[in-house]
Amino acid sequence: MDRTTLAGRETSRIGFGCGRLVGGAGTPASIRLIEQARAIGISHFDVAPSYGLGLAENVLGKVLAGDRDVTIATKIGIGRPTNPGMKALARQILRPLLTATPALRQKLASKAQRGAARNQYEQAQVESSFAESLRRLQRDRIDALLLHQPEAGDLTSTLRAVMDRLVAEGRAGAIGSSTAADRDSVIPLGSVHQYRWSPSPLPPCDTGVTSIAHGLLRRYPRPRANDTISMARMAEAGFDPKDPTAWPGLLLSLALATTPGGLVLISSSDPERLRASVTAIDWVAASGKRAGFVEGAIELLHRVQTKEPSAASLPPIDRTQYIHPSNSTMAVSSRDSEEA
Ligand SMILES: NC(=O)c1ccc[n+]([C@@H]2O[C@H](COP(=O)([O-])OP(=O)(O)OC[C@H]3O[C@@H](n4cnc5c(N)ncnc54)[C@H](OP(=O)(O)O)[C@@H]3O)[C@@H](O)[C@H]2O)c1
Repeated sequence: MDRTTLAGRETSRIGFGCGRLVGGAGTPASIRLIEQARAIGISHFDVAPSYGLGLAENVLGKVLAGDRDVTIATKIGIGRPTNPGMKALARQILRPLLTATPALRQKLASKAQRGAARNQYEQAQVESSFAESLRRLQRDRIDALLLHQPEAGDLTSTLRAVMDRLVAEGRAGAIGSSTAADRDSVIPLGSVHQYRWSPSPLPPCDTGVTSIAHGLLRRYPRPRANDTISMARMAEAGFDPKDPTAWPGLLLSLALATTPGGLVLISSSDPERLRASVTAIDWVAASGKRAGFVEGAIELLHRVQTKEPSAASLPPIDRTQYIHPSNSTMAVSSRDSEEA
């Protein structure tokens, strides 16, 4: 597992997104996921007060209580649901139905997120949310504290001052901002910017900013087995198209290669799928050192998304450059910039 630095501490370039952790009767399964993540070399964990219907921080804090070799990012701004224990119980009862109908599960999760109290950025709200997060995570310091999907008007001078003070007091290693949308939607604050990964060719992040990308497995479905061109392209990129872990491996390798020096989050509710996805990463490609990998993989994503009938029908690639820390450059296609 390649490593990087977050808020002055070394950590893994793959982070585990704790959005799928659950509490209540689901706690043992969540514990297995965290333990699996540690076993495969993941040392960064992304969480928020609202995750796991309000119980993800509790579970993460419990499992990682004695583990100081990890970095943790949590957030402020979206409230924790009221009665998290009751909600976890209701979820447990509904689980068989939700498992059978992923669309319903997605709808309820979105509804829960929409129903949570948002834009909680008053000084007292920030202080109390962060203190509660530290308590649940069983720590006196968090590596990164991020604004949770703020809107433009939320970032006041008072909020900046409160966030800066948390760093000055040593309670947060760094502060930053997150969005569920693409990188150009980040409301910039501090030195950590978290956003949904996309193959859009954006200029490199400012020096001193650590990028954290999320959401790639959810956004880009695996190509169908009868899509012979995509299968051939996967093989060209060095991934066995018959292997179900090849697609997550390819996506993670590409996201790492186009987030130089940054982190990429992965989430799964299945410890074995988590292990298989991370094991399938091509670390040479992920470091940006496999010639042609980024261009080929982005073209493949475009093909899978648009279901272009053949490579010959694709428009010519408009190439721009990602700047890699080693000063090498990687060409990427800009045609995916709208909705890849
Ligand atoms: N505002 C923000 O900062 C923000 C917004 C969104 C997300 N995030 C963070 O980013 C994390 C990741 O986001 P995400 O949940 O969108 O995650 P993701 O890792 O892109 O997608 C997770 C999905 O991929 C599936 N998956 C995982 N491994 C797979 C495999 N080997 N084969 C097929 N499918 C696989 C999972 O299904 P299974 O569960 O069935 O394995 C799940 O449906 C979140 O947990 C959260 O920490 C932050």
